Amino acid sequence: MRVVSGIQPTGNLHLGNYLGAIKNWVKMQEEAECLFFLADLHAITVANDPAKLSANTREMAAALIASGIDPEKSTLFNQARVGGHAELAWMLFCSTPLGWLDRMTQFKEKSGKHKQRASMGLYSYPVLQAADVLIYQATHVPVGDDQKQHLELARDIASKFNSDTGQEVFTLPEALIHGPAARVMSLRDGTVKMSKSDPSDLSRINLSDSDGEIAKKIKKARTDADPLPSELAGLEGRNEARNLINIYAAIADEEPQTILSQYAGQGFGSFKPALIELMVATLSPIREKFITLKSDHNALDQLLQKGADKAAKQASSTVDSAYNALGLLRNS
Ligand code: TRP
Repeated sequence: MRVVSGIQPTGNLHLGNYLGAIKNWVKMQEEAECLFFLADLHAITVANDPAKLSANTREMAAALIASGIDPEKSTLFNQARVGGHAELAWMLFCSTPLGWLDRMTQFKEKSGKHKQRASMGLYSYPVLQAADVLIYQATHVPVGDDQKQHLELARDIASKFNSDTGQEVFTLPEALIHGPAARVMSLRDGTVKMSKSDPSDLSRINLSDSDGEIAKKIKKARTDADPLPSELAGLEGRNEARNLINIYAAIADEEPQTILSQYAGQGFGSFKPALIELMVATLSPIREKFITLKSDHNALDQLLQKGADKAAKQASSTVDSAYNALGLLRNS
C-alpha cells in the first residue's frame, strides 16, 4: 500500500483544513508508506502572487508538521521541487482526450462565466493531478469528496496510457474518501463550508487562534434553543447543531452518534464548554509548534528539499518508463 496525496498551499489555515485532510494524513502515516506534497504547481493555475505563494507553501508545510506529519516517517515536499510531475503531466496531456476534461465539474465551477479567460493550466489541472499520483505508483489516494472525479479520471488516464503503449507503466490508484464528519461548516451558518474567505472571522477557527479566541468563537457559534437529541435523525434541519457535533466527533475520533449518546437531553450551555475544552486541548499544542516552525524558513526549506530528493528518486523510474514506452529517446 502506497499512499500519495496533495494539498494546495492556501494561507490562513483553519479547522476545516485540519479535520478535512491533515488529521486524516497523520493517521495514514501509521498504516502505510506515505508521500504528501504541497500542490504549488496547482496553485498557479489561477491568478498568482509569487510572494504569497512561497509564504503559503512554507506555512502549509509548517502546519502539516505541527499537526503531526513526521518528515522522517512520511515523504513531505512541494511539487515544484520534483520536476518529474511536470514532465509526466506533458506525456499524459498528449494521450488524454479533451472530451474527458470537458466533463470535469470543478473546472466549470472555477472558471465560472469566463471560460475563455481561464488558463490552460486550470483546464488541465486534473491531468497534472493524475501525474502526481501515477508518478509514485500510488495504490491509495486520500481525498475529499470534491476530488473524487479527478481520481476517477486519473485511473482512466493510467489505463489508457497502459493500453495505448501496451506496457504496464502505471498502477491504477484507488480513492480513499474522507468521511462526511470531516466536512466542517461555518460557525455562523451551518449550510456553508468553513472557509478562509468568509468575511466573518467568527465563522472559523484559525490554526493560529489563541485559546481565548477559540473559546469566544465557540461561545458565539450559532445554535438553536433545543436540547441535543439522542439520535442523529433528531439533528435533521439543525445544521449548526449538527456541525458542532460533527466537529466534536472528528476531533475526538468518535462517531457523531457516540457523542450524541453522551450529550442527549443537554443544551448547548453544557455542550459548548466541553467542546471548547476538547478543542483547546487539541489545537493549542499544534498552534505553538506551528507558530515556531512557520518563521524558520531555513529549516522548512531544508526539510522540503530533503523530502523532494527522496521523492525524486522514487519518481524517476516511472518517468523513465513513460519516456521509453512512448519511444522518446533519452539517457543514452
Ligand atoms: N486538487 C487537490 C485539492 O485541491 C490537491 C491535489 C493536487 C491532490 N494533486 C493531488 C490531491 C494529488 C490528491 C492527489 O484538494
